[in-house]
Amino acid sequence: ERGGYRHFMLKEIHEQPRAVRDTLSGRINRRGDDVLLDEVHLDPKWVQDLRGVYLVACGTAYHAGLIGGRLIERLAGIPVWNEVASEFRSRDPLIDKRTLFVVISQSGETADTLSALREARRRGARILAITNVVGSSVAREADDVVYTWAGPEIAVASTKAYTTQVVALALLAIRLAKITGHTGEQELRDLLEEMRFLPKALEEVMELEEEVRAIGERARTWHDAFFIGRGLDYFSALEGQLKMKEISYIHAEAYPAGELKHGTLALIESGTPVIALMTQPDQRKKMISNIEEVRARGADVLLIARQDLAGADRHAQTTLMLPAVHPLLMPVVTVVPLQLLAYYAAVTRGADVDKPRNLAKSVTVE
Ligand code: M6R
Repeated sequence: ERGGYRHFMLKEIHEQPRAVRDTLSGRINRRGDDVLLDEVHLDPKWVQDLRGVYLVACGTAYHAGLIGGRLIERLAGIPVWNEVASEFRSRDPLIDKRTLFVVISQSGETADTLSALREARRRGARILAITNVVGSSVAREADDVVYTWAGPEIAVASTKAYTTQVVALALLAIRLAKITGHTGEQELRDLLEEMRFLPKALEEVMELEEEVRAIGERARTWHDAFFIGRGLDYFSALEGQLKMKEISYIHAEAYPAGELKHGTLALIESGTPVIALMTQPDQRKKMISNIEEVRARGADVLLIARQDLAGADRHAQTTLMLPAVHPLLMPVVTVVPLQLLAYYAAVTRGADVDKPRNLAKSVTVE
């Protein structure tokens, strides 16, 4: 049932090209200039009048929501709030019928996410669910549903659910952008074109596996690891550190690279592993200076960079090069070496990869 793989997690990592292809299937129109979402019925006039979009979820799904939120803001020009579901109700949120409330949940049964959904419903918001399970509680209680077609995810660590959630959110962002007109037709068309290329890019990035396995073996002696990035790369860093903690039990922290010098830099010493993400062309210069900052303190830097960001490898001890896709879509590709790194770190340290201690696949208590 693990299809020849040693663990479900590794199998599911490798299923991502297929999962993303299925999630995209039938959702881009023939002319390649719009998105088709069967179970979403958004009144264009209502969308034009929206006060904002809330994206609420837990764990990995929350991290996918951070990326989706940035895409919605940038492409559709609608204000966005992201919130962890368990914190959502602590803020007396400004929600009413002019709010689109997006919940993201692989299982569709997460208690915190479900309570947030019900609270938003009481306040009059329209609810859109992104979920992987047909007929799940979240799917049944939402007004609109976008299914991720990842297939069953067995490993506790979420992998293919994440990449398909990001893709589903990108589709939603483009659909909203078509309605608001905030982004030009040509740019949306280019983005859709690049989306079709994502399964291919995912196949390419899998080829890094052997290199990542060797780096994962070095993690035998790691105590702490820092994941840094700017913009969308910071959100990928958050996902990378969660995977690392969850299955390898190595303490890991994600930091916006520019925020390091406001405190965390004090923790960097000789040999501290720092995983630096650099996939956004407009952040390149600043990111390089942040890498120099940690290297000057002796950090052991693993740089994961988009391959065309020239000269990147001069700045780190180890570099992994990612296939180039549109900057807004890079998170889909960036996460793969991060998943593999956590996986091989966990295997090296003899951890129970598919069933990490203290955790359940679906958290049905608040
Ligand atoms: O089923 P859900 O997407 O609602 O689950 C949310 C989180 O519990 C889940 O993503 C969790 O963070 C994963 N174990 C992370 O790998």
